[in-house]
Amino acid sequence: MVTSPVQIGPATLYCGDAYQIRPSLGFFDADVMDPPYLFDNSGGGTFRKSRVGADRIVAEGLDQGFDRTIINPLLCGAVAVFCHNDQLPELLPYLDGVFHRFALLMWTKPNPMPMRNRHYLPDTEPFIHAWNRGYHPIGEHHDMHRWIHANSMPTKLFDHPTVKPMAVMEKILRNVSGEAICDPFMGTGSTGVAAIRAGKRFTGIEKNPAHFATAVERLRTAWEQINDRAQAPKIEATA
Ligand SMILES: C[S@@+](CC[C@H](N)C(=O)[O-])C[C@H]1O[C@@H](n2cnc3c(N)ncnc32)[C@H](O)[C@@H]1O
Repeated sequence: MVTSPVQIGPATLYCGDAYQIRPSLGFFDADVMDPPYLFDNSGGGTFRKSRVGADRIVAEGLDQGFDRTIINPLLCGAVAVFCHNDQLPELLPYLDGVFHRFALLMWTKPNPMPMRNRHYLPDTEPFIHAWNRGYHPIGEHHDMHRWIHANSMPTKLFDHPTVKPMAVMEKILRNVSGEAICDPFMGTGSTGVAAIRAGKRFTGIEKNPAHFATAVERLRTAWEQINDRAQAPKIEATA
């Protein structure tokens, strides 16, 4: 069952299943999504005990991947999608086949989890920006890097193990063209906060009621701050 959305200024938030709700919402300029990754989150040795986020990822199924057909080029001009390193060989050919062009970008972290499992440190998270004609990446010269450097977020901040830093989401929102943005896996609403701060319209979907409530609270606070700034008296510069 799909419950009525919560409306907060230019943001419309649905609590429910993305695979059911997203196709019914029609066309957006961009889908910006951070879906459950597909990866082996076991191991970690002596570091594991202190990494509560890793266990939360498993408990919430955020290591189980997603159905890539939620990215539908008939329903969006572009997509920005995060994934695990191991998903790139499957996801890149899919996106290359259905969009006009794509770029592979990286969020680099100075503070990766110290769990390697005989692999490299998890100090980069890839995301792919794929677009159709008319929806190519935009931004000032300095926004056009393929990387963004930011610390990862502690689980305890919003009681969610995979919150994306605002610096990362704000970079993406500067790069996607158009006004209407959808995040079908919005978690605590980071994409939405970045979207409305960038003056865009946002639609988010989250199935977990606790994370949905956090997203509602974050979007309400962000929208109040935007309105407060708009209403603050302008201080004239004196000559
Ligand atoms: C990687 S997290 C997104 C975190 C988000 N970027 C943030 O900064 O808070 C993915 C989210 O998708 C949600 N999710 C997983 N499957 C879903 C589905 N079928 N429909 C809606 N939400 C789903 C999970 O509950 C989780 O909060």
